[in-house]
Amino acid sequence: MIERILLDIAWMSGIGTSLALLMVIAQRWLSNYGEVEIDINGKRKLTVTGGNSLLSTLSDSQIFIPSACGGRGTCGACKCQVLEGGGPILPTEKPLLTAAEMEDNVRLSCQVKVKNDVRIMIAEEFFNIRRYDATIEEIIDYTYDIKGITFKFKEGEEIDFKAGQYVQLESQPYEKVKEKAVRAYSISSKPQIKDRLQLIIRLVPEGICSTWVHKHLKVGDEVSLTGPYGDFMLKDSDADTLFVAGGSGMAPIKSMLEYLQEAGTKRNMTYFFGARTTKDLYLDDEMKAFEQHFDNFKYEPVLSHATPEENWTGKTGFIMPYFEDVIKDPANTEAYLCGSPGMIAAVTKSLKEYGVPDENIRYDDFG
Ligand SMILES: Cc1cc2nc3c(=O)[nH]c(=O)nc-3n(C[C@H](O)[C@H](O)[C@H](O)COP(=O)(O)OP(=O)(O)OC[C@H]3O[C@@H](n4cnc5c(N)ncnc54)[C@H](O)[C@@H]3O)c2cc1C
Ligand code: FES
Repeated sequence: MIERILLDIAWMSGIGTSLALLMVIAQRWLSNYGEVEIDINGKRKLTVTGGNSLLSTLSDSQIFIPSACGGRGTCGACKCQVLEGGGPILPTEKPLLTAAEMEDNVRLSCQVKVKNDVRIMIAEEFFNIRRYDATIEEIIDYTYDIKGITFKFKEGEEIDFKAGQYVQLESQPYEKVKEKAVRAYSISSKPQIKDRLQLIIRLVPEGICSTWVHKHLKVGDEVSLTGPYGDFMLKDSDADTLFVAGGSGMAPIKSMLEYLQEAGTKRNMTYFFGARTTKDLYLDDEMKAFEQHFDNFKYEPVLSHATPEENWTGKTGFIMPYFEDVIKDPANTEAYLCGSPGMIAAVTKSLKEYGVPDENIRYDDFG
């Protein structure tokens, strides 16, 4: 009887193993698309191995499309036109595409799989985006959950970027995280410095890349990043300017202020930095020092949860009511906002109510 049972078990597990083997072979066979061609902008042709996403296939060929969420289909940054060969739009793409974009063959390149020849159109400026190898030169603890990290490029390498732009950093596997991840981080140093750059990174609880940065990255480590990306940049004007940031949203504003200090400006500027308590304030002295450098600049930290023990004598509560004191000529006011989606939505709504035109409100949403 026992022999019979053992025989049955051996028989069943044999079938199971064969089925698993068949599935692996079928999977390999089905995803073996061989060599395919990607026609880019009707100007450039790439011969690649099919089977991966359009985003990663292009990045393997050193063509980098913005992909702030690292290809998870949540940011919508990786849009491009797929004129032929992209197959039908996937349900994962639809929430991030407008009707007009779908009509115009716009797709999320991280969701489109390259299975056959494709014809695509991408923005010409994407050809300027490059991969950089860098060594970690300095790590500064700005607060309990925010670090400033300086990346020094390999000898002779230089980056050209505009204040406000971002790079994408690749984290390495660690502990239970088995794969690399790519995340977007705004450059916090000024564009006049080209052989290194600084990022300001906040630790997100359970976050893959920010945990790697905070708990595993050390001075001397070698890392890879791509960039520059994004169009969150200063307009070329002398308009009155409001900067509004929270948390690590300080990063691009710091870059803009350092750029303006060196380039010179006639702008009247106010910088509101929102934080919960004094423990969340950082680079305070550096930001106050800009008041000496510029003819007309005011740094205004605003605390939402200051406790009596902190003896905070500065501004408190929401930032928005303070706009009334600084917006003198709404039509000639520009605003640059950076931080969480909630903060950006609330500040944008308020600025519009004060009469600041839509086209004068620029933001980078870290969501
Ligand atoms: C243009 C741009 C610029 C940016 N600049 C900066 C900057 O200068 N500084 C900065 O600190 N950040 C910046 N960010 C945000 C940054 O890109 C990352 O989103 C952030 O660091 C979190 O990444 P992470 O890998 O640590 O977290 P993720 O792993 O992406 O997780 C984020 C959150 O989602 C949760 N989560 C993850 N996976 C799951 C799941 N499967 N189910 C449920 N919940 C999940 C996590 O617990 C965590 O709370 C920027 C973002 C953009 C778009
Ligand atoms: S990379 Fe974020 S949606 Fe494609």
